[in-house]
Amino acid sequence: MNADSTLMVPQGGYAGASAEAISFHYDVGTDFYRLWLDPLLIYSAARWRGPLDRGPMPVRSLEEAQRTKLDFHLDAVRVGECRTLLDVGCGWGAMLKRGLDRGVERAIGLTLSADQAAYVEAQCWPGFEVRRESYEVFAPEGTVDGIVSVGAFEHFVRPGYDAAHRQGVYRNFFERCRGWLRTGGALSLQSICWGYVDRAYAAKAVPTYVFPDSDLPWPNEVFEAANPFFDVIYAESRAEDYALTLREWLRRLRAHKAEIIANHGGEKIFDHYEKYLRRCTYAFENNTVTLMRFVMARRN
Ligand SMILES: C[S@@+](CC[C@H](N)C(=O)[O-])C[C@H]1O[C@@H](n2cnc3c(N)ncnc32)[C@H](O)[C@@H]1O
Repeated sequence: MNADSTLMVPQGGYAGASAEAISFHYDVGTDFYRLWLDPLLIYSAARWRGPLDRGPMPVRSLEEAQRTKLDFHLDAVRVGECRTLLDVGCGWGAMLKRGLDRGVERAIGLTLSADQAAYVEAQCWPGFEVRRESYEVFAPEGTVDGIVSVGAFEHFVRPGYDAAHRQGVYRNFFERCRGWLRTGGALSLQSICWGYVDRAYAAKAVPTYVFPDSDLPWPNEVFEAANPFFDVIYAESRAEDYALTLREWLRRLRAHKAEIIANHGGEKIFDHYEKYLRRCTYAFENNTVTLMRFVMARRN
């Protein structure tokens, strides 16, 4: 970590969401998430169709659209040329498992969630190494050939940081990624971003009751912070990818209402997640937020 960002770390923790804040949302039982995510437990927007496709959405399953998303990111980092692949915010490991299936020899996943780390370890996938640590302290031995990060960037700053502070944290992330990557390597990043809203609106709308200690980036913050370290060679804004994913999660959650109430925390938990998924769907459908994918080539 560079000297500037050390100053940004709140007392006793990371600049972004703490391990406790991540646990609050993610460590409520893998069996609970299994009820409404896809079987690979992918907890981020699927890719339902290409960026220039218009008209009615093609009829596809969530499973198929998630597989398309995994392959989009793996193709973006040219997985065929990667011996070592790093996933910052690996969740339950689906991206890296797919990377191993496509020829990667060493897959390193970072997560702050105890449940996710335990789940991945229990799979015993050859070549897979999961570390329960933040990218802020991660120090690999040697370089990596490709980096993916999907759905984690949303946790990298806390609400209330001013613009300069946010920019410093994001720059630190990109600087660190550049330092880990081999010459010619690429980073494929997916994040929810604020849409057409100003800072005052965002400060009130950020759902800290669901994701404590976390705030979203604006797309221009990502471009600016990455600029000294990466060339952004591709970017897409796909709010409908998340709206459709959320609608599918909501459908599955509702279908398991009785089981969630009986075995996973009662009516309160069901209502909490139902409300959160409903509100998020609305936000994507109204452009309050969008879903961005950025492919970045390491500057030499
Ligand atoms: C929404 S989940 C996405 C998981 C996975 N990428 C997927 O698409 O299913 C966010 C992930 O980011 C991780 N995360 C959040 N902050 C992090 C940090 N500072 N360093 C490493 N991982 C982090 C969480 O532990 C979690 O695994």
